[in-house]
Amino acid sequence: MSRTSDRSWTVRQATLEDLDGVFDVYAEVAAERVHIGGEPPIDRDARLAKWREHFDRPHHVTFVAVADGRIVGSASITWAGASEIGMAILSEWRGKGIGSALLEALIAWAERDGSHKMELYVWPHNDAAIALYEKFGFEREGYLKRHYRRRNGEIWDCIIMGLQLPRPT
Ligand SMILES: CC(C)(COP(=O)(O)OP(=O)(O)OC[C@H]1O[C@@H](n2cnc3c(N)ncnc32)[C@H](O)[C@@H]1OP(=O)(O)O)[C@@H](O)C(=O)NCCC(=O)NCCS
Repeated sequence: MSRTSDRSWTVRQATLEDLDGVFDVYAEVAAERVHIGGEPPIDRDARLAKWREHFDRPHHVTFVAVADGRIVGSASITWAGASEIGMAILSEWRGKGIGSALLEALIAWAERDGSHKMELYVWPHNDAAIALYEKFGFEREGYLKRHYRRRNGEIWDCIIMGLQLPRPT
């Protein structure tokens, strides 16, 4: 990808010390209320305690995107029978290849970890995320109608996407 040659960010595996920065990104994206499942108010201490507890568990990993010493995006795998992923990037850092780099890192990690499959849940209106996942070979496997209740009372549909591992060479 040509745009990566002048990139001002890097992607690396997260450490425990990164989790505060990961939370800041998560909370800012959650506050947009349109992209991810989380919505404010989010209990910072409870969420961080849960993430710290899960951090070293087998089949779990987090990658971060860092720019100017600040975490601007993150992507994680949690083990749910398959490798379930979630990702979030600050709005001003979207469309620069970070999502692709994070997802490539997650897929490579899951393959090394011996996972047979990656799965994710995405809102049907999240065109950017769906395009990113399809670019990497994820397929639409299921559609949950009127499934998730939002804090404003709306009930949203959700698409389940999956990627079989290892990827064909
Ligand atoms: C979805 C998200 C992770 C994508 O990351 P990103 O860094 O913007 O994506 P990239 O720049 O690597 O682009 C990858 C591909 O995504 C698609 N894409 C990116 N932005 C898009 C947009 N605004 N509209 C449509 N497709 C888009 C394109 O297919 C693109 O590939 P291309 O550049 O070869 O055309 C990012 O937009 C984000 O964090 N959004 C808010 C949180 C979120 O939606 N998380 C996922 C919840 S399931």
